[in-house]
Amino acid sequence: MIGSTTVPRIAGTTLQAAKIGMEGFGTARTYSQDLTIQRKTGRKMVASGPYGLGRSSVNGHVATVFGATGFLGRYLVSKLAKLGTQVVIPYRNEEEKRHLKLLGDLGQIVPLEWNLRNDQQIHECLRHSDLVYNLTGRSYNTKRFSLSDVHVDGTRRIAQIAQDAGVARFIQMSHLNADVDSESEYYRTKALGEDAARMEFDGATIVRSSSMYGHEDRFLNKMAGWPITWKLNNGQTKMRPVHSLDVAQALTIIGLSDPTSIGQTFSLAGPKTYTVREMLQIVEDVTYGKIISPDINVPRFLYKFIARLGEKYVWWPMFNSDEVVRRFIDDKPDAPGTKTFEDLGIVPDVMEDVAILYLRRFRSHLRYEQPIPNQQYGAVKLKKDKLRVVQ
Ligand SMILES: NC(=O)c1ccc[n+]([C@@H]2O[C@H](COP(=O)([O-])OP(=O)(O)OC[C@H]3O[C@@H](n4cnc5c(N)ncnc54)[C@H](OP(=O)(O)O)[C@@H]3O)[C@@H](O)[C@H]2O)c1
Repeated sequence: MIGSTTVPRIAGTTLQAAKIGMEGFGTARTYSQDLTIQRKTGRKMVASGPYGLGRSSVNGHVATVFGATGFLGRYLVSKLAKLGTQVVIPYRNEEEKRHLKLLGDLGQIVPLEWNLRNDQQIHECLRHSDLVYNLTGRSYNTKRFSLSDVHVDGTRRIAQIAQDAGVARFIQMSHLNADVDSESEYYRTKALGEDAARMEFDGATIVRSSSMYGHEDRFLNKMAGWPITWKLNNGQTKMRPVHSLDVAQALTIIGLSDPTSIGQTFSLAGPKTYTVREMLQIVEDVTYGKIISPDINVPRFLYKFIARLGEKYVWWPMFNSDEVVRRFIDDKPDAPGTKTFEDLGIVPDVMEDVAILYLRRFRSHLRYEQPIPNQQYGAVKLKKDKLRVVQ
């Protein structure tokens, strides 16, 4: 060890053990340097600064987040950077990565251009990293990439290159309903992506999350903005929505603090199950909008027909036929043998407790500041990050 560290090393401890002695950790380690040898790769990692306590600290980890430019990516990058991780953010479009640069200190966030079919670029993006997250995903086919190209071939390629480059951890983002026998192509390709990750990378960790809500989601935003697209199946499809910040927190713990998660699969769903109709009611109550009415049920064949027309003639992602299929599939329970939020010490948010944060903008200006009508909604209880890093 270099420097004046007085706190004993904890590398290789379990998460439970890692949590012990959290109090005072920051003050004891302030501005000391610490050399650790990564167990799997033998890589040397030097931590310095107010360890794990801010964007100006260095925890020694370098993480590559493929898919960082998406909805979940920004929250993960922010949380990783806050703990002193250097984060490589592969991007395709110049404009899509600008907001991420601000999430870390100068030089902490490293944008690199990439193409999912370019092995050399993928290698460049991850060759300095000990931690790789794959969040790349699409819920519709595009002209150049099918769902299978992104979820299966893309995952296989990244996992294979990460394995060859000696990366220590590979964390694959999947979906709670991933299933090779599913009627939905999205869920089928997600399941095949899990298989590809496990096959190509020793000890890959799979994270299956249910539908996520947050500022940039395609969930609450769509319910409030386009409620008609949810009026299928008489609103009886059951879902277990989860807060995007909880999933980002879980990914951070899995990557930085929980070596026991190597080779494990996580099922991350919200604490409550709702029917779509119940969720539309919550959105209506919180926004004072007209969400439920007109109370209609659009037949599946009609929706599918409209979605097919949209896929063919509209050039922006609107509503696709696979999404119609998914609107009829209930969220699965946690698969046996998978870990959950509880194993990571996270208590997931209840949707109606935090929905106002994301739905207030759908209120009219006359009612914007008004309190929430029903007392059971709106007790915004956001948790504070309490994390430390294990090399
Ligand atoms: N959102 C949910 O409710 C939910 C629920 C369960 C699981 N998931 C999974 O969680 C992951 C993150 O979700 P998200 O909502 O953050 O997704 P998102 O907003 O759609 O972002 C997807 C990311 O994947 C990248 N990507 C897509 N196709 C690509 C391609 N052909 N080549 C290179 N990059 C490509 C996008 O890059 P560009 O910005 O360059 O397009 C973007 O960074 C995904 O794997 C998704 O399937 C999401």
